[in-house]
Amino acid sequence: MAIVFITGSTDGLGRAAAESLLDHGHRVVLHARSADRVATIGKLSSRTAGIVIGDLRSAAETRGIADQVNAIGRMDAIIHNAGVYTERSRGATPEGHASTLAVNTLAPYILTALIERPGRLVYLSSGLHRGGEGSLGDVDWTKRSWDPAKAYAESKLQVVALAFALARRWPQVLSNAVDPGWARTRMGGPGAPVDLDTGQRTQTWLAISDEPAAMVSGRYWHHLRQEQPAGEALDLQFQEQLIAKLEELTGIALPQA
Ligand SMILES: NC(=O)c1ccc[n+]([C@@H]2O[C@H](COP(=O)([O-])OP(=O)(O)OC[C@H]3O[C@@H](n4cnc5c(N)ncnc54)[C@H](OP(=O)(O)O)[C@@H]3O)[C@@H](O)[C@H]2O)c1
Repeated sequence: MAIVFITGSTDGLGRAAAESLLDHGHRVVLHARSADRVATIGKLSSRTAGIVIGDLRSAAETRGIADQVNAIGRMDAIIHNAGVYTERSRGATPEGHASTLAVNTLAPYILTALIERPGRLVYLSSGLHRGGEGSLGDVDWTKRSWDPAKAYAESKLQVVALAFALARRWPQVLSNAVDPGWARTRMGGPGAPVDLDTGQRTQTWLAISDEPAAMVSGRYWHHLRQEQPAGEALDLQFQEQLIAKLEELTGIALPQA
């Protein structure tokens, strides 16, 4: 049985993934943004291998999450699930970054770099990532006027490129990106066509399954099938430029293979 860390597991797809893994006998480390949000975990808390706390908008708190996970032990898999959608304004995180960039891109990068390397990495993207091309000139939205949908799309393209860069750089780790579909969560809304169980299935399968189909790396998935992502995600130059930007913005170097 595996031990899996899931970011943003107080609600939505992250919580559904945690419940599914626990129901199948796996161990799960949950993550909540604050001590107050831990309360929403309710009776699930008694079944977990640990709960780590920190706001992903803050790079300092995100570093703290990495420390808390490392103190629990090495994870078999990590599902980078937490995300924000169309933020009303650019915002400014404690480190001065755009909130969407901080939560959706910088936090998964920081956690990837600082948590002891797991066997598998899964990054939650979105079909909307295809509208995110051309972001590298202004990843932190300091030059352009704020466009929430574009910022979301760019962040979701960036995590696909990050997943693929890691698949190349860390050949011993399986690293994949997932589009869960438009799912009925707080983010997706009550009218979304995809139920929670379907929405969580691909990421949990990639995290724990020993089926040969799941033991691949550097792929983009939607409902248990591989799909073609946006061209930039596959572009090695884009991937390397993105990693360089993330290193610059966070001050954290990605460990070598
Ligand atoms: N739902 C969809 O239709 C859909 C479609 C495509 C992709 N996705 C992706 O799937 C992932 C999960 O989405 P979802 O629909 O489950 O969203 P959700 O229902 O809004 O849940 C998001 C989770 O992330 C956590 N989170 C957000 N910002 C955080 C922060 N600053 N610090 C710590 N935790 C934070 C939330 O914690 P709180 O409860 O404390 O806010 C919550 O647990 C996201 O990456 C999303 O982009 C979703």
